[in-house]
Amino acid sequence: MKILLLGSGGREHAIAWKLKQSPLKPVIFIAPGNAGTAECGQNVSLSLSNFEAIKAFCVKEEIEMVVVGPEEPLVKGIVDFFRDDEALSHIYMIGPSQFGAQLEGSKAFAKAFMGRHNIPTAGYREFDASNYEEGVHYLNHHSLPIVLKADGLAAGKGVIICQNHVEAIAEFELMIQRNKFGEASKTVVVEEFLDGIELSVFVMTDGKNYVVLPEAKDYKRIGEGDKGLNTGGMGAVSPVPFVDDDFLALVEEQIIRPTIEGIQKENIEYKGFVFIGLIKVNEEPFVIEYNCRMGDPETEVVLPRLKNDLMEIFIATAQGRLNEIKIECDERYACTVMAVSGGYPGEYEKGFEIEGLETANDDESIVFHAATRKAYDTVITNGGRVFCVTSFGDSVVDAVAKSKKVLSRISFENMYFRGDIGYEFA
Ligand code: AMP
Ligand code: GLY
Repeated sequence: MKILLLGSGGREHAIAWKLKQSPLKPVIFIAPGNAGTAECGQNVSLSLSNFEAIKAFCVKEEIEMVVVGPEEPLVKGIVDFFRDDEALSHIYMIGPSQFGAQLEGSKAFAKAFMGRHNIPTAGYREFDASNYEEGVHYLNHHSLPIVLKADGLAAGKGVIICQNHVEAIAEFELMIQRNKFGEASKTVVVEEFLDGIELSVFVMTDGKNYVVLPEAKDYKRIGEGDKGLNTGGMGAVSPVPFVDDDFLALVEEQIIRPTIEGIQKENIEYKGFVFIGLIKVNEEPFVIEYNCRMGDPETEVVLPRLKNDLMEIFIATAQGRLNEIKIECDERYACTVMAVSGGYPGEYEKGFEIEGLETANDDESIVFHAATRKAYDTVITNGGRVFCVTSFGDSVVDAVAKSKKVLSRISFENMYFRGDIGYEFA
């Protein structure tokens, strides 16, 4: 089968790496890909927002399946575009329709969906310019801290946790009246603050059946001890040590099952990943957010632990046969540590040569490229999050130590990584 995988991060390298191991021997194209994906298939220079160019490529190469890595093409309707085009409608699409992608693309949509299906989540109200004054009054009487969320996609920056009322009202004004996040913050969700520990679960659904993949926890802050600015993710661990079978059973019963039943009841066209960000408050799970794709760097720990053939899962998803799949997992811990460009998530330089990559892979560690690019016979940095090293171990500490050992053999100018991934499990 000929597959086109859309995206260029560590997530896409992990997906391509896993697909390449399939006994079904898929031919893999990655657009635009990175220096790592080029080892798993053929990189193609395509813009993810140019659906016509993606169409022309799929027709020319007789692509049979498209796997959409990031959320943006999904929120812009790439699945609908393929479904509605006679030349493309036979192609298997892994990802939800535009309507389904609102679970990530609109916080207000996701909150209303959870309300309709009794899925536990923080209490909330929704405001825009039409009820702005009511919003200010509401904020003034809200308990602290107050969580403000831009309704739409805001590159991971749209959630602001305010410690006092003055700050909350100032942010609220910036978002609604001054377009702080453009269109995305025309509507704002004001949410109760939930105090607990976070983790994420990953589900694959064909719109009716589902399978649950290994859970993971990511580390979003740039600094050790979870200090400093938010990033796309500096590392991840799976499984999550504080999660036991009883808690996972509760998550399945209270959150996963009602979510998939909700998708089915509302006739939402959804064949793809559902990434559910959770917070565990005492022993109870609450949904913080849905994403309509896999996480990055969570994919880099989830897929290495998955023993199943990913190709088989994708085909079963496309054909509505996920009930036939039984997930099998490696019991070991997988941890990943992300190497980033100095200065990220603020300003940084790129184009530095990465040395030592060829010495890195061994039986227990895998290097997944993120922002890397080939330049003649070298590999150079091409963005903020450059690559990550995933290792297996008998504990979080053991796996992280192995990744750090591999990282000590790789270098580029101003390379930085968090040395404390998984610190709370040491
Ligand atoms: P998101 O962009 O939706 O992933 O949210 C970013 C981060 O904000 C989450 O990872 C949580 O740490 C935090 N967060 C979001 N909603 C809440 C909430 N209701 N209570 C506490 N923390 C939250
Ligand atoms: N690592 C968080 C995300 O992919 O959204």
